[in-house]
Amino acid sequence: MPGIVVVGSQWGDEGKGKVVDLLSERVDVVARYQGGNNAGHTVMFEDKQFILHLIPSGIFWKGKLTVLGNGVVVDPQALLDEIAELRRQGVYVGENLKVSDEANLIMPYHKAFDKLRENLKGAGKIGTTGRGIGPAYEDKMGREGLRFCEFRAGNARALRERLGSILEEKNVLLRSHFRSDAPLFDLNQILDQYAALCEQVQPHLCDSSAALNDALDAGKTVLFEGAQGTHLDVDHGTYPFVTSSNTTAGGACTGCGVGPTKIARVIGITKAYTTRVGEGPFPTELRDDPIGRHLQARGQEVGATTGRVRRCGWFDAVVVREAVRLSGMTGLAMMKLDVLDELDTLKIAVAYRDREGHTHESMPHWIGTAGGITPVYEEWPGWRRSIRGITEYAKLPQAAIAYLDRIAELTRVPIGIVSTGPRREETILLDRGL
Ligand code: IMP
Repeated sequence: MPGIVVVGSQWGDEGKGKVVDLLSERVDVVARYQGGNNAGHTVMFEDKQFILHLIPSGIFWKGKLTVLGNGVVVDPQALLDEIAELRRQGVYVGENLKVSDEANLIMPYHKAFDKLRENLKGAGKIGTTGRGIGPAYEDKMGREGLRFCEFRAGNARALRERLGSILEEKNVLLRSHFRSDAPLFDLNQILDQYAALCEQVQPHLCDSSAALNDALDAGKTVLFEGAQGTHLDVDHGTYPFVTSSNTTAGGACTGCGVGPTKIARVIGITKAYTTRVGEGPFPTELRDDPIGRHLQARGQEVGATTGRVRRCGWFDAVVVREAVRLSGMTGLAMMKLDVLDELDTLKIAVAYRDREGHTHESMPHWIGTAGGITPVYEEWPGWRRSIRGITEYAKLPQAAIAYLDRIAELTRVPIGIVSTGPRREETILLDRGL
């Protein structure tokens, strides 16, 4: 004991990378529990910027173990590329990285179908990252997924038979549904390619549930790092504009094979405003608006994985309050507060109004399909001076303290971390909810 879960409270890109990196100092193990290389964590370390897609940012700390749990879907080529890139930049990757042999593999047809389906949908597309995440999880749930352990087991015949029957169906789907002249997925080629890739990942493979529970039983602290954000959760997010896994804290248990009794705290990461990449509802979005453009430019809101410009808008307390409830968050980390430095007035959405004029204190579940929601705003004065690098709460301008206090009140949890710049040291650490 204990386990600590870190979860994004909005639609991802809240700045989890920095918080996980900060907290890594105090923990022994950092484990990812869901998602795949659709995630993008930007970490500043020793004046260098690193973008991680799969490997937890604990990798930068000597003596820490990093784990990819069974709930992660792994593109082995992407994993190997990330390892190679870290090593090229002088970061040690060896026995400090463990990968669950129960993790499902992202196969070439998953990536192909992700892109083909989005093209086919046209205007109705989800705006996925195109990394094959959704199709890989579909196959996992449909019991048609392949896992590292099958390559490890050494039963080439069983593997060939299973992949063969999977490919038969994939090829029918490819030709009938997407493109009648598409080149077929080839069994031998995929088998050879994946056998070689899995062989290279082999030194990292393990039973991650056993490894993590052993660590917890030995009194070590494990940080479970969520990817994406609460409202991209496949059950609780703005469905269907979601990712294909459980991003909320419960996902840490299923995605790592640890019991809920092992989780002591849940830290919600939230940005001082709101962003979203991809399609889907975003009530406080400032579309075609100078303040939206200001937040985008000042906050450098460009997707770490896809390079897409992120949609930007006001802080939405409905979104974060719901995230607090869904994951049982014990505290919040407020990121990028300094991005608001130049604004005269700040708005916070405290509720929504629907087409019929009804007020909603939480997010209506039909928001993803029916739309028609407008935010109810409160206005707060801006502080209009730089807070960059402030490390003490009391040194923040009064207007910034008032803004944070109001957010803590609306979301019903204390704010334990305030980030005042991208660097590790540009942080206010408070002893609340962490
Ligand atoms: P997928 O996860 O690639 O299937 O994409 C589904 C939705 O989740 C899209 O709107 C993506 O833009 C969004 N998404 C996926 N990963 C991330 C992330 O790490 N940060 C923010 N949005 C993400």
